Amino acid sequence: MRLWRLAAAIALAAAAPAGAIAQTVKVGIINTSSGPMAGVGEQLDRGIRLYMKEHEKDLPAGVKLELIRRDDTGPNPEVAKRLAQELITRDHVQLLAGAIFTPNALAVAPLATEAKVPFIIMNAGTAMITTKSPYIARVSFTLWQSSYPLGAWAAKHGIKTAYSVVSDYGPGIDAEQAFTKGFTDNGGQMAGSVRIPVANPDFVPFLQRAKDAKPDAVFSFVPAGKEATALMKTFGDLGLGQAGIKLIGPGDITTDEELQNMGDVALGVVTMFHYSAAATRPANLVFVKAYKAEYGPTQEPSFEVVGGYDGMAAIFHVIEEQKGKIDPDQTMALLKGWKDDNSPRGPIYIDPETRDIVQNEYLRRVEKVNGQLANVEIETLPMVKDPWKELNHQK
Ligand code: PHB
Repeated sequence: MRLWRLAAAIALAAAAPAGAIAQTVKVGIINTSSGPMAGVGEQLDRGIRLYMKEHEKDLPAGVKLELIRRDDTGPNPEVAKRLAQELITRDHVQLLAGAIFTPNALAVAPLATEAKVPFIIMNAGTAMITTKSPYIARVSFTLWQSSYPLGAWAAKHGIKTAYSVVSDYGPGIDAEQAFTKGFTDNGGQMAGSVRIPVANPDFVPFLQRAKDAKPDAVFSFVPAGKEATALMKTFGDLGLGQAGIKLIGPGDITTDEELQNMGDVALGVVTMFHYSAAATRPANLVFVKAYKAEYGPTQEPSFEVVGGYDGMAAIFHVIEEQKGKIDPDQTMALLKGWKDDNSPRGPIYIDPETRDIVQNEYLRRVEKVNGQLANVEIETLPMVKDPWKELNHQK
């Protein structure tokens, strides 16, 4: 009798549909949740959490998604590398994701290659990151995507001279070089440039130097978050605006979640970027409404929120297509060409040749909308590929 029961149980198990067998996909998330840049990491995580809340029910039957969150504490490549090593060897994650900071993404890249663990970059924006591993795909942006067309726009809109003030590391150097090329190729003249230390920056001496050069505009990149607010306040305190100098840059410097903290000094600042919380396209209205319902009516989602949110959409895509059985090469094949016509930022897709994001860039100006500062979109450059790769034939 017992034997018969056992045989029946075995037969039943064999007949069970594959989907009913519990399958857990482990994703290691390398993010920044402590230290001075923790606010930026919180934005990314809010996007991840919102997507999970809305879509966890859509996972294939029997598939569970386990997110293993690790804190890199800021731009600390050694920490990021150790965390990735542990996630791969101890936690056996099938995917890696996150990376606010370029140096951290670069430190993880060789491990992704060696262990064949696909790595979905949700923020870090230095152009060459994607060339460092065939297992990297990026859903965020590059600084070249924003700063190169901004340079061309500035030269064609009455700005004859510009002074560049950027953070002295990957994305800042990219922003400076991209802007300078776009600007000078179109007849603009650089009045000078400085690079500021990444850690504990004091913007006063750098912006004073820029003011003394009397350019038409200061072009600037600093990492978004509180640092952008500090830059904006110093720009105001030193009276660059009163001296007739405009402030322009990639959208990091008018990041949506900090805009109200920046105050009226931000009014009129022109930026190029792939996302604005103030965008009125239907997908964004739905997104912002859901965001405010989750995190509070005064909260505005920044681009990092969208990076986390769209990154999860890409991860869900590869899980759904493989029914939870993650094969690294199949995952990369699925990410190449993955698209979403209806992201909050507009249509997006992953260029199959470069594994980098293709998306609209929006020229925006800070204006008051219903009494609140907002990055109002005024022009759209459709489906911009990373210009650095286009110009340098890099894959
Ligand atoms: C980066 O390190 O690549 C990075 C960090 C913050 C930003 C943009 C890029 O706002």
